[in-house]
Amino acid sequence: MCGIVAYIGPKDATAFLLEGLQRLEYRGYDSAGVAVAAKNGLKVCKVKGRVADLAAAVPARFKGTTGIGHTRWATHGVPSDANAHPHTDVSERIAVVHNGIIENADQLRALLAADGVVFTSETDTEVLAHLVAAHSGEGVELEDAVRAALGQIVGTYGIAVLDARQPDRIVVARNGSPIVLGLGEKEMFVASDVAALVRYTRQVVHLEDGELATVRADGFRTFTEDARTVTRQPSTVDWEVASYDTAGYQHYLLKEIHEQPAAVERTLSGRLDERFATAHLGGLNLDARELREIRRVKILGCGSAYYAGEMGAQLIEELARIPAHSEPASEFRYRNPVIEADTLYVAVSQSGETYDTLAAVQEIKRKGGRVLGVVNTVGSAIARECDGGIYLHAGPEISVASTKAFTSTVIAFALLALHFGRIHDLSPADGRRIVAGLKALPDHIREILKQEEQIAELAAAYADNAGMMFIGRTRGYPVAREGAQKLKEISYVHAEAYPASELKHGPLALISPELPTVALVPDDELLDKNLTTLGEIKARSGRILAIAHRTPEAKLIDHCLVVPKSEPELDPLLLNIPLQLLAYYAALALGRDVDKPRNLAKSVTVE
Ligand code: AGP
Repeated sequence: MCGIVAYIGPKDATAFLLEGLQRLEYRGYDSAGVAVAAKNGLKVCKVKGRVADLAAAVPARFKGTTGIGHTRWATHGVPSDANAHPHTDVSERIAVVHNGIIENADQLRALLAADGVVFTSETDTEVLAHLVAAHSGEGVELEDAVRAALGQIVGTYGIAVLDARQPDRIVVARNGSPIVLGLGEKEMFVASDVAALVRYTRQVVHLEDGELATVRADGFRTFTEDARTVTRQPSTVDWEVASYDTAGYQHYLLKEIHEQPAAVERTLSGRLDERFATAHLGGLNLDARELREIRRVKILGCGSAYYAGEMGAQLIEELARIPAHSEPASEFRYRNPVIEADTLYVAVSQSGETYDTLAAVQEIKRKGGRVLGVVNTVGSAIARECDGGIYLHAGPEISVASTKAFTSTVIAFALLALHFGRIHDLSPADGRRIVAGLKALPDHIREILKQEEQIAELAAAYADNAGMMFIGRTRGYPVAREGAQKLKEISYVHAEAYPASELKHGPLALISPELPTVALVPDDELLDKNLTTLGEIKARSGRILAIAHRTPEAKLIDHCLVVPKSEPELDPLLLNIPLQLLAYYAALALGRDVDKPRNLAKSVTVE
């Protein structure tokens, strides 16, 4: 969602600000703006639209060596020039960019208005600019004014604040929305996401919730809201700079689909133990004895992370015979959940920033539960809030639609299930079977990707329908759900996922030549049942695209994509790969903005 960048150093800030904002475009936004501290005061430029529109609007004489920038995803007020950040106080001395939501903005607005403040936007953030100004009397340090203003705020924020009278510093703060400092040579960078920084520095400091920092060209000081200094050591970003480019692909999404064999190899790297036919997961922070005491596993995530969790729950039940269940974190957090001591909670998130998932983790921890994170972004809020976990090492995922992180999440669950299973009753022979199956997956994925051309043709043929039905049984059902989700979010074609067994209990009424079905037909113990369902759809003149291990009889289908057979427990992961390409090429055929679908953001950092 929203993005923050800031620069202080010897160079002109605007070039970095604009490039940094462009790097954050993938997060989703509707307007953008920059402010710099110039010799004669603040200069602010902001527009509704893309960063390219902002770059075109910035005047040639927009110069300053200290600056802040923002991409806004509208929450309070429509996307407009006026509502875009930075927001300034009445005297245009203080400029603020803000990610998050100020919950008591209306009350504060009324108080400020009563004091004669005239607001120029509908945003919650503008309140903060006026509050900082109100606390910035003569001789008051900017950091003290910001601390005082934040003391009046209820809500979440990542902020960067600029004061025209104190251009030697930027003050930043974090509470529920990430802020990262980037350390350069006699220059400092700030961003809400390392994607904006990696071209300039790999040395970063992640602020913790409740912390502020004064950032100057030659360094930074971190401190708490009650002004206690805290020491933060820099860490090194280990993702390659090149991972943030499209590498010659037409879209990030296509590149990320093709990166999956390598991403799976990284997720598996160093974690398979062939001797004991198990997996090693150093970050769990739970020994075998503690793991044996776990009676249930509850997995929490949103959207595709939740569907990956459904696949994970099946893997854990099958391999470890421990009851496991996945639930949307966005629902869980609101239903006053019962937290059990012998349940292991697992939070799943590519970004590590999803607010609903973070809130679910915080609710569990508040009630004394134990939470593991299955997270891609190292050092993210969810990763840091959890008691331990598994990093995916899938590399940065830029496209809004999740593909490689989804696949790596399922791999991480397979490793967890194998580890759990071998502590319980999974035999060494079955352990070896799963280890071998996991090692073979990257090549199996490569084989599926070779069918890209055929999938593209089918996608173009099927994209022309008002909707599509996705069906699968047991292990195939989460695949159907994820397949439908991918198609919906990037092609805007309506898609519904159903357990194949449920079709005759209602949705069969929808079947007609105009509503084709994507059917997952693995060669497993339910093959006959699935073939019967195909017959029932065909009897209603429904068109069928089967994703199968071998092509069913011609009278049962219209088209078939054959995927290599893995171990039955791992098959869902492979059955999902053609569905990613299907969604991609359907979106392409329909001329959609594949990497940045309408209304969506990569990281959903609001409720
Ligand atoms: C995936 O294609 C979606 N864009 C979305 O459902 C996403 O998976 C969800 O918002 C969770 O994101 P997270 O993994 O970063 O927490």
